[in-house]
Amino acid sequence: MSRILITGANGQVGFELQRALAVLGDIVSLDRAGLDLTQPDAIRQTLDRHQPDIIVNPAAYTAVDKAESDADTACKVNAEAPAELAAWAAEHGALLIHYSTDYVYDGEKDGAYVETDAANPQSVYGASKLAGEQAIVAAGASHVIFRTSWVFGAHGANFLKTILRLAGERESLNIVADQIGAPTSAALLADVTAHVIQRYRQSPQAFPSGVYHLSAAGETSWFEYARSVAMLAEEQGLPLKLSSANIQPIPSSAYPTPAKRPHNSRLDCSKIRATFDIHLPDWQDGVRHVFAQLCQR
Ligand SMILES: NC(=O)c1ccc[n+]([C@@H]2O[C@H](COP(=O)([O-])OP(=O)(O)OC[C@H]3O[C@@H](n4cnc5c(N)ncnc54)[C@H](OP(=O)(O)O)[C@@H]3O)[C@@H](O)[C@H]2O)c1
Repeated sequence: MSRILITGANGQVGFELQRALAVLGDIVSLDRAGLDLTQPDAIRQTLDRHQPDIIVNPAAYTAVDKAESDADTACKVNAEAPAELAAWAAEHGALLIHYSTDYVYDGEKDGAYVETDAANPQSVYGASKLAGEQAIVAAGASHVIFRTSWVFGAHGANFLKTILRLAGERESLNIVADQIGAPTSAALLADVTAHVIQRYRQSPQAFPSGVYHLSAAGETSWFEYARSVAMLAEEQGLPLKLSSANIQPIPSSAYPTPAKRPHNSRLDCSKIRATFDIHLPDWQDGVRHVFAQLCQR
């Protein structure tokens, strides 16, 4: 029986991991109060106390704009803490599963990014996440780093929930239409994590450690994504001020933010599909599922 330690248990992915990994072993779920990743000593002490075989680290400093003026904390959580987790994993023969982001790329490529494309983060958040990846690879433990994009779920804050809220408050919305990516559900990330852990347990010696792109299939813009959420809400007969026809496309230049976002967040997921023999469902499937969960509340 494995002992699986999950950080950031109150985040979108952390929440879903607790569900998806429960059948795989003894779970130790730690939210920020249970393990503060800005405290390296606490990280070591916590790992020593629980002695996990598998460490799953969805915790991150995800406030992308705030990170621009708080680089020190972003670096502690996104780079130094993963380095600490990876060092412990290497010393104790544990597996480390970690999550990274499309923000490691500059978004200037024409097609979908593959894992071997050069990283060129344009934000503090992206740079801190890339530094975390590099520290994990250098530590030498068995590891998987999932680079994902546009995460959403029923638990936590995300674009889908923001659009649903705004649809009840406003009659029109302007949404950026020149950033392309794949909305990826936290549940999909958690389910693939469970699948990868099962593979590790079958043959830990032959485990294919590495960086893997992991996003739902298909692609969209934030504008089209917002429209599809509003249309689902209309179909469902929710009380709305907004009509999906009153969502207007705007360029990123009309919505300036402290952190620069990549225009192209498309991630080619061929490597993970082939290596772990998985099928990645279309992004709309995840949206419909989370939407249904939210409607039941
Ligand atoms: N969200 C996205 O769109 C997106 C896109 C690409 C990649 N990712 C990556 O996917 C992973 C999961 O993201 P997510 O969407 O689940 O993020 P999330 O919902 O923001 O959850 C992150 C969790 O990390 C915790 N955390 C922050 N600082 C911490 C600290 N000092 N010590 C311990 N825990 C701390 C937060 O705690 P509190 O609950 O107390 O704040 C939160 O529960 C992250 O690695 C993220 O970089 C996310």
